[in-house]
Amino acid sequence: MLFLTPTTSDLSPALPEAPIIEMKNFPDGESYVRIPSDVGGEDVILIHRAYPNPDENLMKLFLAASTIKIMKPSSLKMLVPYLPYARMDKTVRSGEAVSADILCSILNHLGCDELITIDCHFIKEGEGTFQRSGLRIRNITASKVLIDEIKRRMENPIVISPDQGASYMSGGLAMKKVRGGYSEAGGATYRKVAQLEMSFDVKNRDVAIIDDIISTGSTMIKAVERIREAGARKICCAATHGLFLADSFHRLKEAGVEEIITTDTIVSKASKVKFLDVVRGVIL
Ligand code: R5P
Repeated sequence: MLFLTPTTSDLSPALPEAPIIEMKNFPDGESYVRIPSDVGGEDVILIHRAYPNPDENLMKLFLAASTIKIMKPSSLKMLVPYLPYARMDKTVRSGEAVSADILCSILNHLGCDELITIDCHFIKEGEGTFQRSGLRIRNITASKVLIDEIKRRMENPIVISPDQGASYMSGGLAMKKVRGGYSEAGGATYRKVAQLEMSFDVKNRDVAIIDDIISTGSTMIKAVERIREAGARKICCAATHGLFLADSFHRLKEAGVEEIITTDTIVSKASKVKFLDVVRGVIL
């Protein structure tokens, strides 16, 4: 039994059988959730985007999961296409909260039998089933679908990743990213990209740069600059999750990127691949 939420109601035409869970807010901003039908004895899959507004949308997910579990389904799986809080997966300074562990632990304790997600940041091995803080996680990669989309636009491109962590997406070819120390800007904390090293030749070639996420765009923009300096012909960027903070969509265009392609795990003007097409056949 599939359930959508207001964050995934755009999938209704493709999944007309899936009811939409009621999710609203009380006047003080607190979340309200109601499961519209009895799910006792059912195998439930809940499809929910937890971004944008990750804190609020995760709280709504927690309330939904907990209420579903009270109804005693046979199983509860959650499909959260972009998993927020996955990037803080280790400490850099002592005393830091490792949000990836905390989130997985909460979902496990709420009774989630499996979390299905796409190109989860802390899973560097690509597709498969993993375990973190007691939670069973099924990670699916969008890399093939994204690369197919790029290949319609470029001639025999070299596919590279700007970061070793996403090298499984490019098939192995990756730059080496060195991050600097923390910097604070407008209340936000961030470790800048200090350097990107590369050891392959891109002269006169079309280059596709693929990563799991474009957040502030710093990594992708630096990668584009390095590849342009190295004499590449045409450059396209692809990422599973496009947050495009700090006007990075436009800054990438200004840096000379021909096309930017992402999935709709987070909906933006770059969303040219449907995440349902990535998971279809695997779980649906
Ligand atoms: C790195 O660890 C990830 O694969 C991405 O390269 C990174 O998180 C992108 O972040 P930003 O767009 O802020 O550079």
